[in-house]
Amino acid sequence: MPDTESSNSPLLEPLEIGDLKLKNRMVMAPLTRNRAGEGNVPQDLNKLYYSQRSGAGLIITEASQISPYAQGYPATPGIHSAAQVAGWKAITQAVHDKGGLMFIQLWHVGRISHPSMLPDNALPVAPSAIQPKGEAVTYDGMQPFVTPRALDIDEIPGVIADYVKAAENAKAAGFDGIEIHAANGYLLDQFLRDGSNKRTDAYGGSIENRMRLLDEVITAVKAVWPSSRIGVRLSPENQFNDMADSTPQATFTAVVGMLNKHDLGYLHVLEGDMLGAEHKVDYTELRKLFTGFYMANNGYTQATGEQSLNAGNADLIAYGQLFLANPDLVERFKRGSELNEPDQATYYGGDEKGYTDYPSLELEKLSA
Ligand code: PHB
Repeated sequence: MPDTESSNSPLLEPLEIGDLKLKNRMVMAPLTRNRAGEGNVPQDLNKLYYSQRSGAGLIITEASQISPYAQGYPATPGIHSAAQVAGWKAITQAVHDKGGLMFIQLWHVGRISHPSMLPDNALPVAPSAIQPKGEAVTYDGMQPFVTPRALDIDEIPGVIADYVKAAENAKAAGFDGIEIHAANGYLLDQFLRDGSNKRTDAYGGSIENRMRLLDEVITAVKAVWPSSRIGVRLSPENQFNDMADSTPQATFTAVVGMLNKHDLGYLHVLEGDMLGAEHKVDYTELRKLFTGFYMANNGYTQATGEQSLNAGNADLIAYGQLFLANPDLVERFKRGSELNEPDQATYYGGDEKGYTDYPSLELEKLSA
């Protein structure tokens, strides 16, 4: 018997985003898993993984590069070639067949890459030629990040065009929408924050200038998708990938103000720091400022997710590691069942182990 309290959970209430009907408020967060096939093409194994998780109100795919120059890690899927579109199409079909909805996260890593990963050993690009501290994950193991090349202002329209092409490909692949990845120290975030953006042109200096690229990318992809089918992800104070901003609350207050103009489907915020630093940003303030749906992410449990929804601090909760380890997370929350423990050793790369072999309640029942 499901206990009444769990089945009354606000996490299990539906939500309409424009014309999309989410069956619950539990979102599968984007998770890099490095298991794309040859040519960074999504394959059958990835299809099984996502379709197993179709119980989510919305699945956001792992970050997917918008061009060969936008890649930063081995075996991450792309959304720039015809074969990749075909691979994703089989996946969106499988998720739709099980009643799920799916957005693809569009990714340009900027400086978080390495020449060995890029066509013709190109230098990674960034707002400014600042070498991030740390190491790139390459096909030959970990290698120190290099000093990237600052994008010339004349190259920016080409970057925006890559987002548009990827947005078109996402449509052809049958996705329900797109999420623009502007978080976690990748290209768009590198532009937003002043630790990585030292430009002196129209794309650097003031926050109005630093958020110009994100604003232009959103404007451009709105020619492809209705605004309600576009989400944006931010991480105002995540230090991951050697990121910093001198005034995160003010910076992201301005960014949220800019996003409000676009009437987006949702704003997805990684609250706090992936490396464990204390929170400095007041997310309830950002949430109050944002006029659309707010999706919160970073270590939420069932209880804290419910508290956040009940308090009006979020409309949706994105679960990463919990969905990774529990394909039927929604069912488990509904029944108050125990959760599988995630195995960190199998997060990145490999095969079905730690990917598609986490048991669901049905499987446990059958094997009991
Ligand atoms: C990662 O591969 O570590 C990674 C990728 C995308 C993110 C965050 C982390 O947004």
